[in-house]
Amino acid sequence: MKGTRRILVTGGAGFIGSAFVRLLLGSSSVIARRGAPKQSQPPEISVVDKLTYAGDLKRLMSPKGTVPFYKTDICNKKQIEAIFAKEKPQIVVHFAAESHVDRSISNAAPFIETNIKGTQVLIDSARKHKVSKFIFISTDEVYGEIANGKFTENSPIRPNSPYAASKAAADLLVQAYIRTNKFPAIIIRPSNNYGPWQYPEKLIPLAILRIFEQGKVPVYGRGQNVREWLYVDDCVRGIMTIMHKGKIGQIYNLGGSCESKNIDTVKLLLKTLGVSQERWEFVKDRLGHDIRYRLDSRKVTRELGWKPDVRLAQGLKLTVAWSLKHQPWLKSKLKDINNLYK
Ligand SMILES: NC(=O)c1ccc[n+]([C@@H]2O[C@H](COP(=O)([O-])OP(=O)(O)OC[C@H]3O[C@@H](n4cnc5c(N)ncnc54)[C@H](O)[C@@H]3O)[C@@H](O)[C@H]2O)c1
Repeated sequence: MKGTRRILVTGGAGFIGSAFVRLLLGSSSVIARRGAPKQSQPPEISVVDKLTYAGDLKRLMSPKGTVPFYKTDICNKKQIEAIFAKEKPQIVVHFAAESHVDRSISNAAPFIETNIKGTQVLIDSARKHKVSKFIFISTDEVYGEIANGKFTENSPIRPNSPYAASKAAADLLVQAYIRTNKFPAIIIRPSNNYGPWQYPEKLIPLAILRIFEQGKVPVYGRGQNVREWLYVDDCVRGIMTIMHKGKIGQIYNLGGSCESKNIDTVKLLLKTLGVSQERWEFVKDRLGHDIRYRLDSRKVTRELGWKPDVRLAQGLKLTVAWSLKHQPWLKSKLKDINNLYK
C-alpha cells in the first residue's frame, strides 16, 4: 500500500492499541524487522478512546509526535459518525474493548455494550464512509479452551467467559458483514499479550505490582492453566504486517508460541525480579477458568512472513526493566486493583 494513509485507531489509549500507535508513529527499526514492509510515508493517525479505567493517555506521550485524540465512546453513534466525517479514515484498526475476564464475570453489561454494540456502530460508520480496510482485533479466547493440540483459524468458536462470548459475538458480526456485504474486514486473533504499559489487573503486571508492594503473587487454582504468551511489540508488528499485506475477508491467528503454565510463568518472573521463589500463593480459582489456549499461527507465518521474535524469558526481562522505571504508574492503579481483588 503506497502513499499517505489515514488510519483511525480505536482503543488507542489502551495497552495494545497504544503500542500500535507508537509503532505507527515511527519506530522504523521495529517496522523493518521480519514481515512488515517499510512505510513509504508516515500515516495520518487519529485515536478514539473512551478512557475507561483501562485507558491512559500517558501511554501515548511519545517524543515521536502527537495524534488527534477523541475521548469518545464507540457506542455513541452520533459522535463516531462525526469523527468519521472529519477524519475520513481509509483504514480502521479496532482495539477498543472491555478486556478483563474477571470483570466480565462480575458484570458482563459493559462487555456487551462496548464489545458488541460498539463494534456494530463502527461497522456502520465504516461502511457509510467506504473505508478500504477494517481490522478487527479479536482474541484467541473466542475458541474456548483446548487440552491438547492447537486451534487453527477454522476451529469452531466456543467461548467460555462473558468476555470471550462478547468478543466472539463481535467477531461473528464482522464475519457476517464480510460475507453479506463484502465488508472489507480482516480479523486478527492474538494470544495472551504482556509487556510495557499493561494494566496491572492481568497476571504478569499484577504479579510485578504485588512484589513491588512487598506482597505475594496470587496464582489461581493450582497454577496449571496454560497460556500462550505474546510480547506486545511482536503483537503490534504482526498487526501492522497483516494491515499491510493481509487478505481482505481473512482471519489470522497471532500466537506468541511461548506456552507456559501460570505457576511456571510466575516462578520465571520471580527469578527475573530477583526475589524469593516463595513469593506466591494459591488463591480460589477463577470461575469457569479455561485450562489452556494454544494457536496454530502457521498461516500468518507462511503467507505474510510474521513470526514472534521475543521469547518469554527475554520478554519478562524487558517487562521487568520497564516496570522498575515506571513504578509510580503501576502503583497509581493500586487502589483500583485492591478493590477488584478484595
Ligand atoms: N491483552 C491481551 O492479552 C489480548 C489478547 C488478545 C486480544 N486482545 C484484544 O485486544 C484489544 C486491546 O486489548 P488491551 O489489552 O489493549 O485492552 P485494554 O483494556 O488495555 O484497552 C482497551 C482500551 O479500550 C478503551 N475502551 C473501552 N471501552 C471503550 C468504549 N466504549 N469506547 C471507546 N474506547 C473504549 C479503554 O479506555 C482502553 O483504552 C481488545 O480488543 C482485546 O479484546 C487482547
